[in-house]
Amino acid sequence: MIVLDQENKVFTLHTRNTTYQMKADRSRVLLHTYYGPRIGGGDLSRLIQYADRGFSPNPGDAGEDRAYSLDTLPQEYSTCGVGDFRLPSIEFERPDGSRLADLRYTGCQLNRGKYALPGLPAFWGGDEWETLVVFLEDAAAQMSVELYYGVAEEHDLITRAVRVVNRGTEAVRLCRCASLCLDFQRGDMDFITFNGCHAQERNLNRAPLRPGVQSVESVRGASSHHHNPFVILCERGANEDCGTCFGAMLVYSGNFLAAAERTQLENNRLLLGVNPYHFCYTLAPGQDFTAPEAALVCSPRGFGQMSRQFHRAIREHLIHDPCAGGRRPVLINNWEATEFHFDSSKLVSIASAAAPLGIELFVMDDGWFGKRDGDSSGLGDWFVNETKLPGGLADLAPKIRALGMSFGIWIEPEMVNEDSDLYRAHPDWALRAPGRPCARGRSQLVLDFSRREVRDHVYGAIKQVLGSADISYVKWDMNRSLTDVWSAALPADRQGELFHRFVLGVYDILDRMRRDFPHILIEGCCGGGGRFDAGMLYYTPQIWCSDNTDAIDRLRIQYGTSFCYPVSSMGAHVSAVPNQQTGRSVPIETRGVVAMAGTFGYEMDLNQTTGGEKETIKRQVAFFKTHYDLIQRGDYYRLSDPFADPYAAWEQVSSDRREALVSLVYGPNHASAPFRALRLKGLDPDALYRVNGGEPWRGDVLMAAGWPLPMPTGDYQSLQLYLNAE
Ligand code: DGJ
Repeated sequence: MIVLDQENKVFTLHTRNTTYQMKADRSRVLLHTYYGPRIGGGDLSRLIQYADRGFSPNPGDAGEDRAYSLDTLPQEYSTCGVGDFRLPSIEFERPDGSRLADLRYTGCQLNRGKYALPGLPAFWGGDEWETLVVFLEDAAAQMSVELYYGVAEEHDLITRAVRVVNRGTEAVRLCRCASLCLDFQRGDMDFITFNGCHAQERNLNRAPLRPGVQSVESVRGASSHHHNPFVILCERGANEDCGTCFGAMLVYSGNFLAAAERTQLENNRLLLGVNPYHFCYTLAPGQDFTAPEAALVCSPRGFGQMSRQFHRAIREHLIHDPCAGGRRPVLINNWEATEFHFDSSKLVSIASAAAPLGIELFVMDDGWFGKRDGDSSGLGDWFVNETKLPGGLADLAPKIRALGMSFGIWIEPEMVNEDSDLYRAHPDWALRAPGRPCARGRSQLVLDFSRREVRDHVYGAIKQVLGSADISYVKWDMNRSLTDVWSAALPADRQGELFHRFVLGVYDILDRMRRDFPHILIEGCCGGGGRFDAGMLYYTPQIWCSDNTDAIDRLRIQYGTSFCYPVSSMGAHVSAVPNQQTGRSVPIETRGVVAMAGTFGYEMDLNQTTGGEKETIKRQVAFFKTHYDLIQRGDYYRLSDPFADPYAAWEQVSSDRREALVSLVYGPNHASAPFRALRLKGLDPDALYRVNGGEPWRGDVLMAAGWPLPMPTGDYQSLQLYLNAE
């Protein structure tokens, strides 16, 4: 619910459990007055303290009031060069070279429903949403800034976006435009980020905010394996179940900056948006720029509640799921089994072994097109390699269909190998600056997706392939970072737009594909989880979580990912042992339990497995299908910290609390291990639950005292407890 107090210019956004407030003060400066647990209302600007602080200047219109400084007041959208020395939200350069932004309130508008952003992914929804638009202007620069707020009351979710319009008569260069600025009138907070590298994504990192700026970012052109555009600020003592925490995500897949600043007054500012690195947009008179959406959840009850709010909002208001309401298929992918070395009969043999086990979708990974016998050729040539697949997809797809399975393919549209027909015909379509050699990544170059003709060509070829056979799934990969970011199609003073235009180009093709083939499930991928973000999830409801398929490493990766992103978004497969990335051998039961904490599938040649393993796989697939709703749509509870505890455990609970599934994976085994009990969460305290069909247990007992854990008899064993209330 949005409450506008027009007389006092106080704007209050209530969700079920939280309240957010801003106020335009006597100078029409938009102050941020509160964000936190829900309160009744009133003008919370009374929380703000005014004092004369040395070296914190006073704006001209403050007169002799030395206690009024933009440098000390909590700002809703911070300005630049006119008195606030903290992190600026916006920066633009006028033709006279000045870089000053002074924004003042001019009005606001309340709408039912959720705003949309042209060309950009954003949360969507109907009348259960409200939108507030707050208008600001820099009168001297003739620049206007519109702040958008979407409120999804039931989800405790507040989205934000920003539109900047040049209302003057001369071009202006926009050099920074954050999506979110959030000032906290408190200092003692921890900053939590999710960091890593290829095959080790989203490891949780928590540290107290120190004076100054702490930040994570990507300058790689994709949101990256290394840092994620999702961060948390929380009270020092916050944990899974208590303490106030604030999660902020960017609905964007390119370069981002998430920066937290502890200020001179020991307050904090959080900034989130497109990275100002190599960013500069020229706005001609009348032109505008829309910054990507950011979304906020405040949880007064710890990280668990915050995650569950994000999970539900993402599932219900961000993704577009072609299988909505139904079930996504259990898949088998041939990559780890064959890499590039396959032909039709090999693929059909893998599918034939999978079909009787209940696996429903066969995915043909990299290597089916052009001259693609390894990773140094063929990218860009989106036509079937008929040496490997005689008769093309029109021959292969029906063979897969005849097994009762659906069929999917891998693509990597943004890339090109120099050894390809596409590159030979259009060398200037790759990103590279004139007169210098450019960096290769995995022997490939990046196509200039800012250019319409490049996108049209690539998409035209892929569209033809998708139309040539019965295809119900596409894995969209991207296997290198962007370098040599220069476009032959942009003038010198617009090269700073290229990183962002590239992302808009990716979104354009994803959007076209989604509209042309609404039945196709698109899985995102970027060498695993290098572009695991809410922007991609809008188009690709699931994303390959990591190239690391080792079940034990995956526990940490999926744990970190779960702080923001739901189980139904995390691509996870059972692969062969010893694992290709770690050399570790983990029991098939455990590999199944871990992959079931994601979208669930297999990535191995099942012809190489024993009869016993096949029986286990058959049981896993049947179990997953039976409990699909609980696993994919249940409320998710983390029961352990796999970085600290001797086991990893998590739990899904149905919304009516009648059912729950507990999964636990032990680490390496040790002799004389202590007795342990696993305390469950989210159950109905008064209900009687049968655990795996056995004697009933009270919910309160399972939550307060816990379930006694059996002693493992070897390394990396696991268990699953299915609870149903009597
Ligand atoms: C990287 C992906 O993450 C893998 O799963 C696989 O699709 C390869 N690329 C194929 O080149």
